[in-house]
Amino acid sequence: MRRIHAGELAACINLLENCPLSGKILDMGCGDGALWSALSHCQDIIGVDFSVKMFNSLRQSNLMHVCAAVLEMPFPDAGCDCITAIGISEYIDDEGKILSEMHRLLKPEGYVLYTLSPPSIWTVLRRLLGHRIYARHPRDTITLAESLGFKLIDQKETLMQVQLLFRI
Ligand SMILES: C[S@@+](CC[C@H](N)C(=O)[O-])C[C@H]1O[C@@H](n2cnc3c(N)ncnc32)[C@H](O)[C@@H]1O
Repeated sequence: MRRIHAGELAACINLLENCPLSGKILDMGCGDGALWSALSHCQDIIGVDFSVKMFNSLRQSNLMHVCAAVLEMPFPDAGCDCITAIGISEYIDDEGKILSEMHRLLKPEGYVLYTLSPPSIWTVLRRLLGHRIYARHPRDTITLAESLGFKLIDQKETLMQVQLLFRI
C-alpha cells in the first residue's frame, strides 16, 4: 500500500513541476501532509482537513493547518494561486460542490491538482474495508470541471488513481 501511495504522490509531484508553486497554496484534505514533505521548498501552504487525528501526524512544518470540512472552507474568494485535492474526491458525494468551491477560491490563472478514483477492483476492496468510496470515470470529472470553467492542462494515471491538472 505504501508503495502505491508513493507512486501516486510521485505522479502528483511530476504534474506540479509544471506549476510555479509560488504564492498561496491550499491543500484540501491534506491528511498528514505527505505531499509537502516531498516539496519542502514550498512555503505559504494551508492544509485543510476535518480529521484532528491526521493533524496529529502532520509531517511538515511548512504547512499551516486548519481544521474544516472542504465544502465549507473559511476562506475568501480568489485568494489561492494553487489548490491541491489529493485522495479526497472519492469521499465526496457531490463532486460539483468540491469543484465549485475550488473555482471560488482560486485566483484567475490559478492551478488545481485534483485526483479521483476510477471504478476498479481497488474501489470494490476499499468499500469492503468499510470506506464509503465514490468511484468516478475521469471523462465525467473532466466534463464537469470544464463546464465550471476549468481547463485541463495535463493528466496521469496510476494503479488506483487518476491525477488531473487544471487551470482557470
Ligand atoms: C486518503 S486521505 C489523503 C491525504 C493526503 N491528501 C494524501 O494524499 O496523502 C483523505 C483525507 O481527506 C480528509 N477528508 C475526507 N473528507 C473530508 C472533508 N469533507 N473535509 C475535510 N477533510 C476531509 C480525511 O480526513 C483524510 O485525511
